[in-house]
Amino acid sequence: MIEIRNLTKRYGSFLAVDDITFEVEKGKILGFLGPNGAGKTTTMRIVTGFMPPTKGTAVVSGFDVVDNPLDVKRRIGYMPETPPLYVDMTVEEYLNFAARLKQIPAKEVKGAMELACEKVDLNNVLSKVIKALSKGYKQRVGLAQAIIHDPEVLILDEPTIGLDPIQIREVRELIRSLAGEHTIILSTHILPEVDMICDEVVIIQNGKIIAKDTPDGLSKSMKGAERLTVVVEGPTEEVSSVASATEGVNSILESTAENGHCSLVLECDFKFHVRKSLSNVFSKKGWSLLEMKVKESTLEDVFIHMMSSSEEEEV
Ligand SMILES: Nc1ncnc2c1ncn2[C@@H]1O[C@H](COP(=O)(O)OP(=O)(O)OP(=O)(O)O)[C@@H](O)[C@H]1O
Ligand SMILES: [Mg+2]
Repeated sequence: MIEIRNLTKRYGSFLAVDDITFEVEKGKILGFLGPNGAGKTTTMRIVTGFMPPTKGTAVVSGFDVVDNPLDVKRRIGYMPETPPLYVDMTVEEYLNFAARLKQIPAKEVKGAMELACEKVDLNNVLSKVIKALSKGYKQRVGLAQAIIHDPEVLILDEPTIGLDPIQIREVRELIRSLAGEHTIILSTHILPEVDMICDEVVIIQNGKIIAKDTPDGLSKSMKGAERLTVVVEGPTEEVSSVASATEGVNSILESTAENGHCSLVLECDFKFHVRKSLSNVFSKKGWSLLEMKVKESTLEDVFIHMMSSSEEEEV
């Protein structure tokens, strides 16, 4: 449905997107992740036909964005980082305007607006002036204009940025409900968001793809190691040195002392029975083990791990 091949974008001599290739299958949601300045918005603007690539191709529903920009635009709904809202219009006026801009035939405009508003739950604010809406509702208006022409493909640039937790949840559910019918690329900095709503993840950094996988696959790629949190009643320094001498403990990630308790986060190798060894050695020392639990590695851990290992490679 979306095929991006060797896409490259230079701004003058600056290489913002460097030879990236990926695709998104019909009905799937792809999470596009990366730190600030990674090249996410640049890529999205090329895919939506707003900007030509320097090299490479982007094909949407079989249409090349450079050769057939109008065919592509007709099939794409785009929600930019800042939705292009005319804040003095009412929601209804603005969506009417957006519908005409997208060349929806006059007699179909009403139906298209009703459907979009129903999908993003905007019906109770139709007559409000946009500038009087809360940020979350403005985002919804941005989404409504993106889906009003019922595009096959949606490109959403950080759709939940700046929303409160309840609105974030609602907008995520909304996006999830749009998949299937629509193929979606969504950029975000919020890692749990990718876990929750995306089928695939592409991580980019400095314009290059550094990982391409499912959210689960990415988390599993870290599963050779596990992290343990242990809380022990004993002297911190001694507990730390005993723990780090235990077979299978790779490193101590955190160590804190409080009221005679020592709390450690350890990175351990799966191959060893580290939990058993630790509880034995602590009990031999006469230290009570107050807590021991496995800390699941989150997508956030994976992201930070990947960012730092690819920086190291560059050095
Ligand atoms: N019009 C432009 N002219 C020159 N450089 C630009 C232009 N637009 C973006 N860049 C540069 O290209 C790089 C990629 O920018 P881009 O906006 O694509 O990043 P991003 O991944 O969307 O970042 P963010 O998470 O901050 O939105 C950045 O270094 C940025 O400064
Ligand atoms: Mg951006």
